[in-house]
Formats: sequence, structure tokens, C-alpha cells
Amino acid sequence: MIIAIDGPAASGKGTLARRIADHFGLPCLDTGLLYRAVARDVLAGGFRLDDTWAVVAFARCLDPATLDDEGLRAPGVGEAASRVAGIPEVRSALLEYQRAFARRRPGAVLDGRDIGTVVCPDADAKIFVTATPEERARRRHLERQAQGEPVTYEQILDLIRNRDARDSGRDSAPMRRADDADLLDTTEMGIEAAFDAAVGLILRKTSQ
Ligand code: DC
Repeated sequence: MIIAIDGPAASGKGTLARRIADHFGLPCLDTGLLYRAVARDVLAGGFRLDDTWAVVAFARCLDPATLDDEGLRAPGVGEAASRVAGIPEVRSALLEYQRAFARRRPGAVLDGRDIGTVVCPDADAKIFVTATPEERARRRHLERQAQGEPVTYEQILDLIRNRDARDSGRDSAPMRRADDADLLDTTEMGIEAAFDAAVGLILRKTSQ
């Protein structure tokens, strides 16, 4: 069983994907980490993110064993990842790894921006998780405050709006809901309610 979870930054799709994977006993791939790792390697190598040749070269030799680096989850890395993700050759270099992960028995949960549309168009269940930019910014702001970061709600809302625009406005595999994906709007839901709703949607799709 392949489950595709897509959605914008800070929509909670990562937490949901992990909970869903645990529930169904499936491995989970956070595909954003691949793009984050490429950005990390480019910068660590002393290259610029607008050096397309270097970015593509790093994407082609990405070592998936380095995806559990905690530093990949830092806020600035997400922004850098969104920039490298707009390069079509970067996306094609990372495609086969994602598809091979999805093909493994007994299946997998993948979360990202283009899982239902490009990586796994034949997934058994697809959910597009979203929430308003204001609600996503509110949640992110609470997280950052808890970590003691001096960032304002307005700054986070700005970053979220810019990231949404870049991820959905690019030509290559833009973020969008697949025609056959269920929409899960979590604006007015806590994580437990969102999880229950997601499991319900998956069971409905997979028992049809
Ligand atoms: O999900 P995330 O915030 O870790 O993703 C970081 C960036 O990576 C995101 O802004 C766009 C890119 N990305 C993508 O283009 N396609 C994916 N399947 C996953 C992430």
C-alpha cells in the first residue's frame, strides 16, 4: 500500500505522515529531507544556491544515509531547499530514490509536495493536507517561541507565503493537489482529529 501525503510548509503533513506510517506499519519517507540535504551539501561545499551546475551535481551524488542529520530541520535549510527544488534536473535526480522507496514491500508513506502528482501518481491513497497561512504561521510561531527563537509571527507568515508561492509557482512539479487526492483542511483541527480524519480517508480509499 502506497500512501501519498502532500501539502504546504508547516501544514502538519510530516507529523501526520509519521503517525499514519506507524498506524499501518509502513516505512515513511519525508521527501523534503532530500531537497534539504542537497541544499546543505551545496552550501557546505562552498557553492551558491544559484550555481545550477553545482546544485545538480550535488543532487546526483546525494547520499541518502545522511538524511537523519538533525541540522536538516533548521528553518533556513527549508528555504534553501525550496530554491534548489525549482531546478528540474535536481528533481529528476531525486525521483528514482523516492520511487524505489515507495515500491518496497509492504508499501510506504511518502510526504512532500508532488508525491500524488509526480512521484507516485498510482498511490493507493492520496491526501493533500492544508491549513490557512495564518494558522500555519501561528503554529510555527508557537514552536519557534518554545525553542527560544526571537522571531515574530509576521516574519513567519511572510516566509510561509513566500514559500507557498515558490513551491506552487515553479514550472517543474509544482505543489498542487492531485485530481484524485482527498483534501484535509486542518485549520480548525488538532493533531488527533487530523490523524483520525486521515485514517478514515485512507481506509475509505483502500477498501473501495
Ligand atoms: O517539506 P519541507 O518543508 O521539508 O520541504 C522543503 C522544501 O523542499 C519545500 O519548500 C519544497 C521542496 N520539496 C519539494 O519540492 N518536493 C517535495 N516532494 C518535498 C519538498
